[in-house]
Amino acid sequence: MSRSSTKVAVTKVALAKVAVAKVALANLALGALLLTAAGGLGLALSGSAVKAAGEPAGAHESTHMPWSWGGILGKFDKPQLRRGYQIYKEVCSACHSMKRIRFRNLAEPGGPEFPEDRVKALAASFQVKDGPNDDGEMYDRPARLSDTFVSPFANDKAARAANGGALPPDLSLIARARDVHEEVPFYMVPWHFVKNVLTGYQEGGADYVHAVLTQYRDTPPAGFKMTEGLYYNGAFPGHQIAMPPPLSAEDPFKYQDGTGSLEQNAEDVTAFLAWAANPELEARKAMGLRVMIYLLIMTVLLYLAKRSVWSRVKH
Ligand code: HEC
Repeated sequence: MSRSSTKVAVTKVALAKVAVAKVALANLALGALLLTAAGGLGLALSGSAVKAAGEPAGAHESTHMPWSWGGILGKFDKPQLRRGYQIYKEVCSACHSMKRIRFRNLAEPGGPEFPEDRVKALAASFQVKDGPNDDGEMYDRPARLSDTFVSPFANDKAARAANGGALPPDLSLIARARDVHEEVPFYMVPWHFVKNVLTGYQEGGADYVHAVLTQYRDTPPAGFKMTEGLYYNGAFPGHQIAMPPPLSAEDPFKYQDGTGSLEQNAEDVTAFLAWAANPELEARKAMGLRVMIYLLIMTVLLYLAKRSVWSRVKH
């Protein structure tokens, strides 16, 4: 008697526990729902708040661009990389070094893939210091394929002196060193994280560089205090940058065919910088895809093998 009654009591406790768990689950679901709704509302409100303050549209966001190398199957657009190099060489290299890139990289697969003889001729048009020679002296010689890009300044101090105290950073890895700053309410951060993982989003650096190049404003928003000698930029943190607008809408860089616009200039040079920071991107993505296909086939084979092995066991 006493035994069965304890059993009943235990079952009752178990049932009560289940009930409590159910209520907790329902609460959790409701909470999640409310949170999502609040998130939506928050987004809507923050959007209107930004507008109310009289900010230029898109001043803080760097939009996600449809880059050709984005996603699982992305590849660099070779002609775009070549145009991008041209802009770097003609415009940006006056101030920015790219010490990690060698001339031969320009001819390698997965990059701009310029013909090697043209890259040789290009390298030879630069002078580099070498030595010491047999007399113990340093000397200048034309650059070779194995040399790195030639820096515009002898050292950082010279670079600062020529740029009003600001140091133009080396651009070799800039597309990886920076990221977009997405202004989302704190409770949306986990969702953004998951979304970026699921969509394989890795182009934040490129989106940022593109935004810096295209979001200069002649007149800062009303009430914004500018420091003498700096330029208003919607994407740069703090919105005051020491770099004068390197590309312009009125006088864009013209390609060999005579066309060119600020937007295209910015996209092309950004693509080039993205390649420079990820020269192995195409090989990496191709290998990743092959591995996934291999694993898929392997999974099917292992499943079939398991079925055939266990079919001999009676159950
Ligand atoms: C007249 C010199 C000059 C030229 C030309 C120039 N830059 Fe700059 N750049 C600078 C300076 C100086 C800074 C540092 C700005 C600062 O710290 O406020 C800078 C900073 C940058 C940054 C980094 C912003 C950050 O988040 O730190 C990027 C990216 C950049 N430049 C890209 C370019 C590109 C691309 C070009 C060519 C289209 C270019 N720059 C041409 C002087 C120049």
